Amino acid sequence: MTHETVPLYGGQLSRRVTIRDLRTAKERGERWPMLTSYDMYTAEIFDAAGIPVLLVGDSAGNNVYAHPDTVPVTVEELVPLARAVVRSTSRALVVSDLPFGSYQLGPEQALATSIRVMKETGVQAVKLEGGLPVVESVRRIVEAGIPVMAHVGFTPQSVNALGGYRVQGRGPEADKLIESALALEEAGAFAVVLEMVVAEVAAEVTKRLSIPTIGIGAGPDVDAQVLVWQDMAGLRGGRMPRFVKQYGDLRGALVDATKAFADDVVSGGFPAEEQTYH
Ligand code: KIV
Repeated sequence: MTHETVPLYGGQLSRRVTIRDLRTAKERGERWPMLTSYDMYTAEIFDAAGIPVLLVGDSAGNNVYAHPDTVPVTVEELVPLARAVVRSTSRALVVSDLPFGSYQLGPEQALATSIRVMKETGVQAVKLEGGLPVVESVRRIVEAGIPVMAHVGFTPQSVNALGGYRVQGRGPEADKLIESALALEEAGAFAVVLEMVVAEVAAEVTKRLSIPTIGIGAGPDVDAQVLVWQDMAGLRGGRMPRFVKQYGDLRGALVDATKAFADDVVSGGFPAEEQTYH
């Protein structure tokens, strides 16, 4: 099997996945999984499990830093997390988000932040949110040799302007969304995230683009699916968005382990002889 034909997930690529691999996977009609990661252990586990793309998302805001949403996240907060994920992986293509405020001033700021993130973290690509208003920034970053993942539909950094967590692409919004995705591809983006997009519109975008589409709440007819790992593995408590499927109950497992440890300490069961030095 040549590198051109090794499946992205389940194949044994002995090097990091590249944006070229993602394009050939699209040509083969292959679907692939993507997860967020913000730390060493999850990065190691997801890399060993063969997840081909890991995103150090600004969802660290509400999954690591206890911010209410992604808006307050800074480059200074994301850089150490991205660095840890890169150091803990050998195979996944690692993408870092550009946080809110670090690229909205225009192409020069977007390029400066991207260069900083690439140099300080070792990630292989950056991601930014938005449609037509960021097309020139995407072009500028790509022309400088930095791969860019785009993100349209519901864009969490604009949650205040969008009026909350609302599904995108309904009715007349659909054409604008498709036009944005096409323009981002033309500007050089290597993939586009479609978040909370009506399934039929996501399917149409996927058909029209030659770069992969990555859905999160965008239905089944996209090239890849991404979830925030704490949602996927059941670490987060509370109400989940409709698009989340939980594949584990890490929160329950951690509650049980914590209680067992605490009970043992109180009863004198820990440490036992096996954990004691003489
Ligand atoms: O920040 C993030 O985790 C994301 C994904 C949800 C796509 O942007």
